[in-house]
Amino acid sequence: MTVIDVVRGDITLLDVDAVVTAANESLMGGGGVDGAIHRAAGRRLAEAGAAIGPCAPGDAMATPAFDLDPPVRHVIHTVGPVWEGGDFGEAEVLASCYRRVLEVADELAAGTLAIPAIATGIYGFPAAEAARIAVATLRATPTAVGRISLVAFDEETGQLLAAALAS
Ligand code: APR
Repeated sequence: MTVIDVVRGDITLLDVDAVVTAANESLMGGGGVDGAIHRAAGRRLAEAGAAIGPCAPGDAMATPAFDLDPPVRHVIHTVGPVWEGGDFGEAEVLASCYRRVLEVADELAAGTLAIPAIATGIYGFPAAEAARIAVATLRATPTAVGRISLVAFDEETGQLLAAALAS
């Protein structure tokens, strides 16, 4: 049985087996949550990302967590869709991110996982629809992960994720 909850705050401070970053295709870091995770993990994260990238939108790939504090052992990099109005398959690409993240987490035997609100920042995906897609996809995808924490960096995202979980 997988527990899904909403956590407010900075994903780099959470005690989980694996953290998910909202990356770009190069996997070499950027701004937003990707920037925070790369700053916390150190420069080896970008080197490891460059070695396995590029990562296609909707896919997910894992690297070690390097300088992130234990128990975090893995960073799962996923690339969300850039929002272009909703008629270009963005919803399906976002759903694919969540499915692939769980597949990779299961390959890593991660028991606990933290996931940010993928694509809702720089990539502009509407946060309410993204929350609904995240919860629906995670609930529909079989996984051995015991606890999935949906991380909200701001209050509005937290409320949207909680509403999606309550629906
Ligand atoms: N912890 C948790 N969530 C965070 C943090 C953090 N430290 N910093 C930002 N966020 C939240 C944002 O508030 C937003 O809700 O992560 C969510 C995703 O926003 P972005 O980080 O902008 O990611 P995204 O919209 O997917 O854009 C990805 O931005 O940083 C670059 O390299 C990245 O090119 C890629 C693009």
